[in-house]
Amino acid sequence: MNITVIGTGYVGLVTGTCFSDMGNKVYCVDIIEEKIEDLKKGIIPIYENDLEEMVVKNYKNGNLLFTTNLEEGIKNSNICFIAVGTPMAKDRSADLTAIYKIAKNLGEIIDHDMIVVTKSTVPVGTGDKIKEIIAEEFKKLNKPWQVHVVSNPEFLKEGTAVADSMRPDRVVIGSDDEKTIEILKELYYPFVKNHDRFIIMDIRSAEMSKYASNAMLATRISFMNEMAMICEKTGADVNKVRLGVGSDSRIGYSFLYAGCGYGGSCFPKDVQALIKVSENYNYTPKILKEVENINYEMKKILFEKIKKYFLETKGLKDLKGLKIAIWGLSFKPGTDDMRESTSVVLIKELISSGVYINSYDPKAVNEAKKILNDQLYKEKISYFNDKYEATEDCDGLVLVTEWNEFRSPDFKILENNLKNKVIFDGRNQYNNDLLKNLGFKYYQIGVLEDF
Ligand code: UDX
Repeated sequence: MNITVIGTGYVGLVTGTCFSDMGNKVYCVDIIEEKIEDLKKGIIPIYENDLEEMVVKNYKNGNLLFTTNLEEGIKNSNICFIAVGTPMAKDRSADLTAIYKIAKNLGEIIDHDMIVVTKSTVPVGTGDKIKEIIAEEFKKLNKPWQVHVVSNPEFLKEGTAVADSMRPDRVVIGSDDEKTIEILKELYYPFVKNHDRFIIMDIRSAEMSKYASNAMLATRISFMNEMAMICEKTGADVNKVRLGVGSDSRIGYSFLYAGCGYGGSCFPKDVQALIKVSENYNYTPKILKEVENINYEMKKILFEKIKKYFLETKGLKDLKGLKIAIWGLSFKPGTDDMRESTSVVLIKELISSGVYINSYDPKAVNEAKKILNDQLYKEKISYFNDKYEATEDCDGLVLVTEWNEFRSPDFKILENNLKNKVIFDGRNQYNNDLLKNLGFKYYQIGVLEDF
């Protein structure tokens, strides 16, 4: 099939590339010329496993095309995916400016029957609005063509985006047109071969499914973080509680890890947007608001623990002049994405308390530099290429992101490098007993504090 994908961010680029890898001809369109020129040269704007080689291969064999010219894509294809960003607006709703602008452009450009699919995460009702906008343009220009608008939300995870797209758990298709549904099933068939993974529903339910999924996952994390806080007070260990809870087949083990808060481009934004949509319909969500509140608190918890240790255990008056090593900057392992990352909250709090930071991350340093670009931060953060070097002469080590390479470090080196044998772990990676035997003070999330 011939396809246009609008937007070459995480979702658009990965989706377009995977479609092209299955033998479709895909026009990836973006308004940023530099990005398009880079992609043609094989320079990928994001770090994602397997993506670069797949882009290069399919660009070379002609299945994947990059252009800033929307018209070129639309004229040559029958299906168009909208995969542009829907960032959080000032009022915390999803900003749909780009989506509506594209709908208008499509109304102006389309010159044959077309299927328009929203892949971006959009609030319930957006698909209907897109239909209206296109119809309005068609009316003005007297166009006779049939356009079917479909909701087909994307559920890929950063870090495993290509693998998730090549083997999706489910393909949700929100449409009321039988023929359209059949065409999309045909397009997705190679990805779900031998498994019945299609879930067909109306547009609004499809749009809502994406928000409800992300809200459910965020809720599980905040729920577990609340359990962690109770464990810390009562002397239980959340790492053990997780096993006791997750072993129930009705509950399951995934997304039950307590930690220093969820980040990324989806959970924070989508939970906020869902709250906003509900309020627009005069419903005040209760659970969702607490999910967000708990997460806000969790992002500050490492700082609280660090402060408590230095003030109460070490008897310092304040944190001024300390040097702290931070392992992991991205919001989760396997990505260089820094959006809503806990590391940013922690670094800002530490620096405003007069602390110097030595940081190490295998992938996210460039992105971190872009976000922490104020003079104040530039002066106080050093970035290292080696995780052990980053700990030299530091007053303590904090683990924020659980990259594999942090899982079993050489504690002898840490012992030599650190001025205090203390580790604050935001992702509960180490064995408590082992670290205690080695003489480390080890603070996790959800384990009784021993200050
Ligand atoms: C998420 C959804 O998983 C995906 O389906 C959706 O399409 C987009 O949003 P992503 O943002 O890539 O994907 O990351 P994910 O792996 O889900 O992790 C989100 C955050 O939750 C991370 O900060 C992670 O550290 C945190 N997390 C995850 C926990 O704190 N505990 C857990 O048990 C799981």
